[in-house]
Amino acid sequence: MKLWGGRFTKEENELVNRFNASISFDQRFYKQDIQGSIAHVTMLAKQQILTDQEKDQIVAGLTGILTDLENGSLQIDPGAEDIHSFVEAALIERIGEVGKKLHTGRSRNDQVALDMKLYVRDEIDEMAALLKALLETILKIMKENLETYMPGFTHLQKAQPVTVAHHFGAYFEMFLRDCGRLSDIKKRMNTCPLGAGALAGTTYPLDREYTASLLSFDCATRNSMDSVSDRDYLIELASAMATIMMHLSRFSEEIIIWNSNEYQFIELDDAYSTGSSIMPQKKNPDIAELVRGKTGRVYGALTSILTTMKGIPLAYNKDMQEDKELLFDAIDTTKGCIQLFTGMISTMKFNAEIMKKSAMNGFTNATDAADYLVKHGVPFRDAHGIVGKLVLYCLDKGISLDDMSLDEFRSISPVFEEDIYEAISLKTCVEKRTTLGAPGPSVMKQVTEEYEALLNNM
Ligand code: ARG
Repeated sequence: MKLWGGRFTKEENELVNRFNASISFDQRFYKQDIQGSIAHVTMLAKQQILTDQEKDQIVAGLTGILTDLENGSLQIDPGAEDIHSFVEAALIERIGEVGKKLHTGRSRNDQVALDMKLYVRDEIDEMAALLKALLETILKIMKENLETYMPGFTHLQKAQPVTVAHHFGAYFEMFLRDCGRLSDIKKRMNTCPLGAGALAGTTYPLDREYTASLLSFDCATRNSMDSVSDRDYLIELASAMATIMMHLSRFSEEIIIWNSNEYQFIELDDAYSTGSSIMPQKKNPDIAELVRGKTGRVYGALTSILTTMKGIPLAYNKDMQEDKELLFDAIDTTKGCIQLFTGMISTMKFNAEIMKKSAMNGFTNATDAADYLVKHGVPFRDAHGIVGKLVLYCLDKGISLDDMSLDEFRSISPVFEEDIYEAISLKTCVEKRTTLGAPGPSVMKQVTEEYEALLNNM
């Protein structure tokens, strides 16, 4: 039975019904639908549109439906059109005629707009909590690795030495911005659309601000047409999730590289790797690869919702039903990836010796050799040229800068003295970089303390 059957005369077409129905996916927010209905009838009673007795009967009926759905004694009817029709039909079946008053002063258009907001608001909170756990894990790794040296790269070529703390700190910043984006979205979307009706409000004396406060919204929406057709917050969320996934994917890519036989910077825990069915020696970084791969799905959701919305005239149109499966999948995917990724990095081991050796070769101290000359009065551009010659010399001999004798140094520039060795040691290269944001352990330690305070206030 359809909510809107009255005006129709022809038999229903099963194919059309299935194409039109959303119950298979909107049943996910049955709790929010019931929560919204309870607030709605509470307001109706306060405004004397329903009697208190009617309100109590409806609230008891809805609460019973919620309990029974949660304990499994009531099943969602897969043949229903959507979750809204299902709950209303179940209510009428339970409490009879009075149940038919639930939908007074409401349309499914404002109802679905409300349900989706309530659902998404909860999901944003869960996602933010998962991001916080990820940040805590990153911070723990940073604190343990303030002096674990590794090469820093540009163009995937060794550039200058950094530390694991410094490298992970870059990701801390990214995920912290992601948290900020989620809380911004929540602030902007936290307005209650209920009472907007189908598009033009209602003639009942609703108290929309009261409904809004019952559901912990900051206020009621101000334009009823916008209320039922606004999906901006879903687009913002899809964009924020795409950014989270982009960050996770970059991090995954690095983990895959570090875990390769050629690098061996890290070792993934057995629990986060898989074997090959044919090659017994393999231990593959599948989880990192899957996180990287699933990024495409979340990008797809963003493109899809933007495209779905672009040609829709005001106000509600059925196209908007397409927002759900996409967003639900993107939310599940993003949450799952954050969680798995956190587990993966909290169990992986760093091969500090290998990373240190790698940081020492590849001329990562060439800039510091040039800076040494500059400190002795050589203009930087000339110093750059001199060190370029040193590098060529070393490449020819198959040695690194530290392996050169002082005579060899001086044959290229007489400015070099014995203290060049100290100046270009790995320890010096890292420890002397103490400007804010640099890898020097002393400054990095201060940064981790700031991070700690930030997390405590989150
Ligand atoms: N399932 C619909 C959706 O997801 C609910 C709103 C239906 N409204 C309507 N006028 N048919 O958008």
